[in-house]
Amino acid sequence: MSNTILVTGATGTVGTESIKALSNRGLTVRAGVHSLIKGDRLKQLNPDVQLVELDYDKPQTLQVALTGVNRLFLITPFTEDQVAIGQRVIDAAKQAGVQHIVRLSVAGAAVEPGIQLGRWHREVEKYLEQSGIPFTHLRPGSFMQNFVNYNADSICQEGKIYMPLGEAKVSYIDARDIAATAAQILSADTTEHHGKAYELSGPQALGIAEAAAAIGQATGQPVHYVDVPEETARQAMDKAPTWMRDAMLELYRLSKAGYTANITTTVEDITGCAPHTFEQFAQHNSHRFKAKS
Ligand SMILES: NC(=O)c1ccc[n+]([C@@H]2O[C@H](COP(=O)([O-])OP(=O)(O)OC[C@H]3O[C@@H](n4cnc5c(N)ncnc54)[C@H](OP(=O)(O)O)[C@@H]3O)[C@@H](O)[C@H]2O)c1
Repeated sequence: MSNTILVTGATGTVGTESIKALSNRGLTVRAGVHSLIKGDRLKQLNPDVQLVELDYDKPQTLQVALTGVNRLFLITPFTEDQVAIGQRVIDAAKQAGVQHIVRLSVAGAAVEPGIQLGRWHREVEKYLEQSGIPFTHLRPGSFMQNFVNYNADSICQEGKIYMPLGEAKVSYIDARDIAATAAQILSADTTEHHGKAYELSGPQALGIAEAAAAIGQATGQPVHYVDVPEETARQAMDKAPTWMRDAMLELYRLSKAGYTANITTTVEDITGCAPHTFEQFAQHNSHRFKAKS
């Protein structure tokens, strides 16, 4: 039996790292990409990767992408229809005879009533559990890469990180460690991870002032944390849709209440390697945070 793995959202933060982490494992790795042009750079990370167009709104592309696939890393985007997308892919995977789905979920998805971000993920998790396809849920906390994706501009231009997080601590995880964990599970020739849900975290919980200091240390340029009142943060996100703004502000309140600092040993338990520290992440990405001269 061939071992063909499809990664959805393959050009995204976790997807890109997963394509790299799945290389050199004797597997056929297929990257489901929204746009083939955007996906081309994945070949530099994994020269053997197969690129396949995958648009959640075009069911036929799902069918083609899943042909011959037996394992799936299901990453859905942060969109209003994320639950419907997840369910659509699970239905198509069942049709295609996929034998194991590793699902990228979120920390705290099983908490009830929890927060909206977790409830959306839990809905997809439950749908997957009821599909009869063997599954593994990965539930990471906030990604370290959020600082690259959302804070790099103000860091480069002003040496500042604006966040409404007060003194909250967050056990940020490096997306490379999520990818390494997923790759280990997807390439394992055992069923030991079937039916399991794993909470994933980085090795330390840190506040934004500490994250800012680590980034400043890595670039040699000071970075300061500006604690933003919730109302100001709401206004700053006025271009974002209401559902997204509300979900993010709810997450920040959860952090301020102390619920996002949990540390687990799961990454090391599964991969055998200690997860990256924030300092290592900052060093690795220092070029993304440097002021342009
Ligand atoms: N960020 C965090 O701190 C965090 C923490 C825990 C869990 N999560 C979860 O992680 C997931 C997101 O992962 P990520 O950050 O790696 O993703 P991401 O970087 O936002 O990338 C999303 C991917 O989905 C693709 N995509 C978007 N719309 C599509 C469509 N209609 N058809 C096909 N592909 C489409 C994008 O391609 P294009 O760019 O080409 O459109 C991109 O490759 C979400 O479920 C989120 O809840 C995030």
